[in-house]
Amino acid sequence: MDFEEVIKSRRTIRKFTDEDVPDETVREIIETGMLAPSAGNIQSWEFIIVRDKATKHSLSQEALGQMHVFEAPVVIVVAANIKLAEKRYGARGRDAYCFLSAGAATMNMLLTAVSLGLGAAWVGSFKERPVQEILKLPDYIRPVGIIPLGHPAEIPEKPSRRGYKEVVHNEKW
Ligand SMILES: Cc1cc2nc3c(=O)[nH]c(=O)nc-3n(C[C@H](O)[C@H](O)[C@H](O)COP(=O)(O)O)c2cc1C
Repeated sequence: MDFEEVIKSRRTIRKFTDEDVPDETVREIIETGMLAPSAGNIQSWEFIIVRDKATKHSLSQEALGQMHVFEAPVVIVVAANIKLAEKRYGARGRDAYCFLSAGAATMNMLLTAVSLGLGAAWVGSFKERPVQEILKLPDYIRPVGIIPLGHPAEIPEKPSRRGYKEVVHNEKW
């Protein structure tokens, strides 16, 4: 699959088969996340790999009961290390850069999953504090996305997008 095909065929996958995703593949996916751009190259991201059923269940409960978080064979939680970002960039690092960088890492991972024939979702609707508690994250590690990953059992229709003219502004608003 070439790059454009990967981008165009990516969908948010919410149904997975029972087939597992091996540790080496999870590592390959995370390693592409680690290649993302980050403010000052401080790489203020952290990744928590979750396979334990009870933990996935607790995470899904704190993500509005979203069952794809429980049903995926593996879940990767991408988190922002605000301590690292704040140390270098102060408030802007703490409030923006660390989340933007973790988002960039997430996007790389979602696209790599597609290129490997896998599917994933970026689950952002969750209660942050309980997720921190479940995963024993220190306060300065803030979860940004819960990524259920697996073999797609169903590929949804492409959702519509706002039009080019609606979102692109020439020179000024
Ligand atoms: C910040 C963010 C939060 C999201 N939260 C959720 C979520 O909680 N659950 C979910 O199933 N999908 C979630 N999504 C995925 C979007 O629903 C999805 O990207 C959008 O509907 C477009 O569909 P597509 O990804 O297939 O193009 C989230 C995406 C982003 C970027």
